[in-house]
Amino acid sequence: MNQWELASWRSKTALQQPVYPNAEHLAQVERTLGSMPPLVFAGEARRLKSALAQVANGQSFLLQGGDCAESFSEFHAINIRDTFKVMLQMAVVLTYAGKCPVVKVGRMAGQFAKPRSAGSETIDGVELPSYRGDIINGIEFTEQARVPDPERLVKVYNQSASTMNLLRAFSQGGFADLHQVHKWNLEFLNASPVGSRYQQVADKIDDALQFMEACGVGSSMSQFQETEFYTSHEALLLPYEEALTRRDSLTGEWYDCSAHMLWIGDRTRQIDGAHVEFLRGVKNPIGVKAGPSMDPEDLIRLCDILNPENEAGRLNVIVRMGADKVEEGMPKLIRAIEREGKKVVWSSDPMHGNTVKASTGYKTRRVDDVLKEVQQFFQVHNAEGTYAGGVHFEMTGQNVTECVGGAFEVTEADLADRYHTHCDPRLNADQSLELAFMISETLKKARL
Ligand code: PEP
Ligand code: CO
Repeated sequence: MNQWELASWRSKTALQQPVYPNAEHLAQVERTLGSMPPLVFAGEARRLKSALAQVANGQSFLLQGGDCAESFSEFHAINIRDTFKVMLQMAVVLTYAGKCPVVKVGRMAGQFAKPRSAGSETIDGVELPSYRGDIINGIEFTEQARVPDPERLVKVYNQSASTMNLLRAFSQGGFADLHQVHKWNLEFLNASPVGSRYQQVADKIDDALQFMEACGVGSSMSQFQETEFYTSHEALLLPYEEALTRRDSLTGEWYDCSAHMLWIGDRTRQIDGAHVEFLRGVKNPIGVKAGPSMDPEDLIRLCDILNPENEAGRLNVIVRMGADKVEEGMPKLIRAIEREGKKVVWSSDPMHGNTVKASTGYKTRRVDDVLKEVQQFFQVHNAEGTYAGGVHFEMTGQNVTECVGGAFEVTEADLADRYHTHCDPRLNADQSLELAFMISETLKKARL
């Protein structure tokens, strides 16, 4: 294999890239970003890799979640806080009810670029280039908005820096303290059965903390007061990722410092493609999406290229087949990995294979399909004797109506009420918690 260099991806085919009208403008923005401070520190990415190694070894569970696409217009402290709160709630449910430590990774602080199935979109006979995420062009259906603009990369960097800052403050500044477990419940959840189920878990945790204090053990250790929260996004727009990649001064190795973890999408995982080439050279933990078209031998080749040292925690295979396809599609992937002795973290993205069009025209997902895909994912791993290591969700703390079903029974007619996503439909807080409870039951059974 050829020597990896920061720019070696440029001689390969990069799918899903915008064509900028002014290449010099893009180059100038890349130089600007290249001189900006990194958003994460290489040591943090290494810590996440060790945490994921525990997942690969079956000792911990990966919870990855957040927006399908972050956006400039939905950028608000309250949105960040509420998504963070739901992730904390889900993690508490999994840790307490499932008796399993949880690695928390947000699709946050950098998740802006979207691969699209079609290059253009036609409305009322007018055809325009597709929206590709706020890092590339605007969602408004006008010719001007759809022109790729390099200045958006700088705006994404700045928004990611302040999101990251707030997430760090929440994680370490007292908000994530387990003594606050009751306060993470969002107000609208109090009315839901899932919300009260959560309150029961919170009561038990409160009791346990008070018991420890009464015994003189104390519950003021950092494990109770702080949490580790990591960031991730799809490394789709390669000029942005290259500009934020730095050589770590401690080890001399390259890290993509735009996030702790990066993944390769299902549409850009070609063995000889630019995305695989770029990510093989950085030392962060890496994910690769595996849809129904993933060939088992290609998966092995991807392991060889992306994880040549077969390091546990380096590679996460994110399976997104669709509720009806996992049972048939996943065993052959698992068997190939087992046969070759590859170390991977298996996680389930039950979102991207289950997108449907509602009769009202909205893109949606049925909570039942999402639940079913996760259940099938667990069952197949159980049958193969391998470890179902985690889940990957598109979710938000906002009380949106984007996915149908769930405890509040969002119907197709409700979708128009609060449909705010910039790309794919997300689970709302109560749908996310419902999933966490279901998974916790499965984890508990697996422990017994
Ligand atoms: C995504 O995670 O938003 C996405 C586009 O996924 P996939 O590559 O699996 O389609
Ligand atoms: Co999506």
